[in-house]
Amino acid sequence: MNYQHSHERSIADPAGFWAEQAQAVSWFRSPTETLRALADGTHQWFADGQLNSCYLALDQQIEQGRGEQTALIYDSPVTNRKARYSYRELRDEVARLAGALRELGVEKGDRVIIYMPMVPQAAMAMLACARIGAVHSVVFGGFAPHELALRIDDAKPRLLLTASCGLEFERVIEYKPLVDKALELASHRPEHVLVLKRPQAPVTLVPGRDLDWHAIVPLADPVEPVPVGSGDPLYIMYTSGTTGKPKGIVRDNGGNAVALTFAMRHIYNMQAGDVWWGISDVGWVVGHSLIVYGPLMAGCTTVLYEGKPIRTPDAGAYWRVIEEYGVNSLFCAPTAIRAIRKEDPSGALSRRHDLGSLKHLFLAGEKLDSSTHQWLGKLTGKPVHDHWWQTETGWPVTAPCTGLEGCVSRPGSSNRAVPGYRVAVLDEQGQPLGPNRQGAIVIALPLPPGCAQTLWNDHPRYLQSYLAAYPDYYHTGDGGYLDEDGFVHIMGRTDDVINVAGHRLSTGEMEDLVARHPAVAECAVIGVPDAIKGQVPLGLIVLKDGSRIAEQQLQRELTVTIREQIGALACFQRIALVKRLPKTRSGKILRAVLRKIANGEAVAIPSTIDDPAILAEIGATLAVYTRAS
Ligand code: COA
Ligand code: AMP
Repeated sequence: MNYQHSHERSIADPAGFWAEQAQAVSWFRSPTETLRALADGTHQWFADGQLNSCYLALDQQIEQGRGEQTALIYDSPVTNRKARYSYRELRDEVARLAGALRELGVEKGDRVIIYMPMVPQAAMAMLACARIGAVHSVVFGGFAPHELALRIDDAKPRLLLTASCGLEFERVIEYKPLVDKALELASHRPEHVLVLKRPQAPVTLVPGRDLDWHAIVPLADPVEPVPVGSGDPLYIMYTSGTTGKPKGIVRDNGGNAVALTFAMRHIYNMQAGDVWWGISDVGWVVGHSLIVYGPLMAGCTTVLYEGKPIRTPDAGAYWRVIEEYGVNSLFCAPTAIRAIRKEDPSGALSRRHDLGSLKHLFLAGEKLDSSTHQWLGKLTGKPVHDHWWQTETGWPVTAPCTGLEGCVSRPGSSNRAVPGYRVAVLDEQGQPLGPNRQGAIVIALPLPPGCAQTLWNDHPRYLQSYLAAYPDYYHTGDGGYLDEDGFVHIMGRTDDVINVAGHRLSTGEMEDLVARHPAVAECAVIGVPDAIKGQVPLGLIVLKDGSRIAEQQLQRELTVTIREQIGALACFQRIALVKRLPKTRSGKILRAVLRKIANGEAVAIPSTIDDPAILAEIGATLAVYTRAS
């Protein structure tokens, strides 16, 4: 297959193109209808197809002779544990866990929340839900109880799965008290909490509600995968929007299976038997697509790593894993590479390891700066590719398709649209912009299989957030431009979302919390550049008249609030007191202008601003933070 031809065909005849790709998936009932357009602008793929995502990831691989091949490698420098599961072993564990879920009353369509660290049981839990048609929603362990409670109330799970603790460097983070607190805050009550006890932390079980994983699961009878409809939800992944309420991105079974099968082969060029490492967490979309479903559906060996790029034990950890398991290709976030580079700038630790197995490195999640790109390329001697996607799409929108002929990877860009996506750049009036002109990045409808077509419990919000701004296009929320050869350059978010160490966070949510402080008259939270994390939040604060709180004290108090309400991952540690904020004459804070100043972009003075002089004041304040990075 050739990239150019495939892309053109996928745009000219999406139904024909994806009907062919769908043949690479083993359906229980093959779809007779490929693409259905709905009146509200959304689409349904493979409407009458039936399949099971767990079957595709495990049973089908065994049927194809991969039963004894390693399916999953667990490598945990934080606990000094390593384990391997063959496809047969993983299937047996998952089938038994699925049986346990069913015995606990979980049925097809029921939701199950998974709040677990990076242990194999987290991946097993996802697959076990898929096996019985239950809908999993994994919540990243770094989120605080309040965030977990929001997700519990939205998803209304029948069951919650957790573990006694996670491990962050040498610190034990007890999860169970966080779950207990979240359940106090939430209105919805799951019937049970199934707790995986880990030796690093004791745990107290609430009688009648909490159950011991090790006491329940081994006694359960294994169950077979059930057929589910293509459009039935496989999972809900909550992600930050521009308000305090997270968006429940819904991933279907059929589109996801077709898209990931295509992506593993044609973007990542992975063959059955290859070793793949998705360096992320099961709490993020990458964990779903590139640790669990994608590599297993492709018959690869997937590495599940419970550790960090540095200090577990050192900045050579990634190179050790690559050598030890013969990793052929990997995904990671630029922030991880920046952290490694800071600790080991000459790359001395990498030279202790044989990286010969590695063919490609794929980076995404935030902007890949050219200096990090070059450093990594030189260090490994391997092609480093930037590619771009979102929780909503579930798989790459732009990437070099390394498994297709005619693949070109262009450093400095996030590469070209992969087959299925037509990317365009529009101006504020919705008119297409020519090459090298910056505007809103959009994707022409229909979105290809795998991309979310709704939000859990809130279809109107989906339509409003993604389809309302520009007719016939999906609005990505990113800004940037296309160059003359169609390579996409992502410049950053155009909304109130920031990206901290690859973690997507809402500044609007932080603002709500900051504004509740009794000394704060008004505030704006924006992302400012950070040398390691890409961006970190900065609170610009106007104090109430007569307020006497010292800046440092206010900063400490707000840091605690954000940690308690959102989680430590938000890294809210900086504030700047300002006399006023730039506003329109009608009193709306000009956040887009603040974002531009923080990014060091040129700002045209908006005609609606009430006092243009304020931009210079704010610019001087923000310059300190831009320089600090
Ligand atoms: N459970 C509980 N707490 C967590 C957590 C988890 N799963 N993940 C992060 N946290 C906490 C950390 O302990 C830290 O708390 P602290 O402020 O009390 O020290 C805080 O959240 C911030 O964590 P992190 O963003 O990981 O920063 P760090 O300074 O500890 O580490 C890096 C810096 C660069 C090593 C780290 O951010 C990293 O590994 N980044 C890569 C991220 C990644 O792969 N993202 C992929 C997304 S697709
Ligand atoms: P998430 O939904 O958490 O995966 O975050 C998606 C957002 O991360 C995108 O909308 C972008 O803003 C950003 N992002 C992802 N990949 C890239 C990339 N390669 N370059 C720049 N930004 C990226």
